[in-house]
Amino acid sequence: MVRIAIRCSFSPRVQRIRAYPTESRHDVRQWKWTRVKHSYTVEELLSLYEEKGDGKYGEAISQTEHALQCAALAKKDGAPEAMIAAALLHDVGHLLADLQNEHRFDIEMDDDSHESLGARVLSPIFGPEVARPVALHVMAKRWRCTVDPDYYATLSATSRASLQAQGGLLSPDVAKRFEEHPGFQSALALRSWDEDAKVEGLDSGNLRDYEQLLTRLSSAR
Ligand SMILES: [Fe+2]
Repeated sequence: MVRIAIRCSFSPRVQRIRAYPTESRHDVRQWKWTRVKHSYTVEELLSLYEEKGDGKYGEAISQTEHALQCAALAKKDGAPEAMIAAALLHDVGHLLADLQNEHRFDIEMDDDSHESLGARVLSPIFGPEVARPVALHVMAKRWRCTVDPDYYATLSATSRASLQAQGGLLSPDVAKRFEEHPGFQSALALRSWDEDAKVEGLDSGNLRDYEQLLTRLSSAR
């Protein structure tokens, strides 16, 4: 089983999250410290996108455009609501990391462990159905590049550049363990929408179109 290990210490308002892919735990360069609030509401997450989502993060479109296109693809594929929410919020970790000026990074040279950070914040709000695919979507990219050399050529330039910072190709053993993980299929689905959700100038709606869905999922917990 592929594990995503997270260590954190709590204070009343913020927590320091030390998040890293388990297989990279001995590589100190992979360790990242990020301060985030202990808990977020749906309204705060949407406001975060409205406030910070215009950033281009190396792609031709903004984080918000990318999130909306990803959610629209999930919806078009008939995905369950939890997967639509995961698609919409899968990169929220980039915004959370960016929220702290101390953690500005170069996406092509560095890795902000955004998948772990995002999953850690989404889990208490929406549960594992949303948090797990988010936690594993970078692993899904690494797996696809490992098992399908042609897939690498289809990645965007930024995605290709960030692959090494995210850990590069998987060993055969890790690839096999990931295939056996219960979140394997949903992570692959999310990864597929993620890669296709980078179309310049495509209108995919508004963040607030998803407010009811997110509130419903959150209230059901
Ligand atoms: Fe993404």
